[in-house]
Amino acid sequence: MPKLGGLGVAVLGSGMAVPGKVVTNQDLEKMVDTSDQWIVERTGIRTRFVAEEGVLTSDISEEASRMALERAGISPEDLDLILVGTNSPDTLFPSVAAKLQGRLGAVKAGAADVQSGCTGSLYALAMGASFVASGVFKYILVVGAEVLSRLVDWNDRNTCVLFGDGAGAVVLGPARDEGLSGRVLGFSLKADGAKHDLITLMGGLVEHPASHETVDQGLHWVKMKGNDVFKFVNREIPPFLDGFLGEMGFAPGDVSSWVFHQANWRIMEGVLRRLGVPEERAVVNLDKYGNTSCASIMMALHEAIVSGRIRKGDKVVISSFGAGMTYGAMLMEF
Ligand code: ACO
Repeated sequence: MPKLGGLGVAVLGSGMAVPGKVVTNQDLEKMVDTSDQWIVERTGIRTRFVAEEGVLTSDISEEASRMALERAGISPEDLDLILVGTNSPDTLFPSVAAKLQGRLGAVKAGAADVQSGCTGSLYALAMGASFVASGVFKYILVVGAEVLSRLVDWNDRNTCVLFGDGAGAVVLGPARDEGLSGRVLGFSLKADGAKHDLITLMGGLVEHPASHETVDQGLHWVKMKGNDVFKFVNREIPPFLDGFLGEMGFAPGDVSSWVFHQANWRIMEGVLRRLGVPEERAVVNLDKYGNTSCASIMMALHEAIVSGRIRKGDKVVISSFGAGMTYGAMLMEF
């Protein structure tokens, strides 16, 4: 049953941050055998932000988090938990969340990273919402942040044109009547682990400990069977979203804004077409930021809130997919 019971829980504030270096499709034309036309036609991406040397996932997480806390009117000392969805943590351990807890001075908060491909931040949102709904915790900071540019092979045109760096954050807490806050109505989290080989980063851990061979084979880079991912998402996501909304008691036409994982405009367009929903209902910022993995839905949600696109009373679906394969959706009412 996807409906969230218990105490009302909502997004009280949001924030985002991107690093300073912009990489255009024209820049990529000089690095690999690609073209602006191919990238725009196949993905919709025009630019992406890439972290400068020394800038870490924890750095942009902190910037996005401080903005979210300020907009929510919550101080770090009020936080009970920090969850960070990421596939590019500074280090495997300590977690980004633990470093963030220390840097923010969130003295009473627990901290953990959530790793589940690009869907990690949606999983983190669902976990955070459930903790607040249960009454165990009151205020939770949920972050989606990536510096995937360090894990991408800049000689591999299949992946390097797609990804970008960035961070988005929200503060979850008890639902308020005043102001614009997104109340979580329900969510669904799914996985098809039989497809775990579609998006991988194999090297440097238990299965392939770091060695000269793993480096020679490029096992420390992201590898993706892009076309298989494309087909999987187009096949699975539309009926999944239709079923999820049906169980929640709504139809696709009831949703004012769709905050999809910003992986590829053609995927978003195909999903909306299959659901019979006009394209304008999709929040789109991948042209500027590329696929920022866990940061993607968080940055898109933040921009949709601050731009005034999302208004009081709107129903908003957030949906993502990624390595695993994992996928999921959350329904909010603002
Ligand atoms: N520039 C020019 N040509 C390219 C490039 C490039 N950057 N990349 C691939 N090509 C070529 C391929 O080599 C292939 O050439 P060939 O026909 O001579 O073999 C041709 O373009 C077509 O390749 P396809 O892979 O079939 O292209 P497709 O239309 O599927 O688009 C893309 C590729 C953009 C990767 C698409 O499949 C896609 O978006 N897939 C989904 C990826 C995704 O959403 N990932 C999200 C999860 S990420 C995570 O969880 C970390």
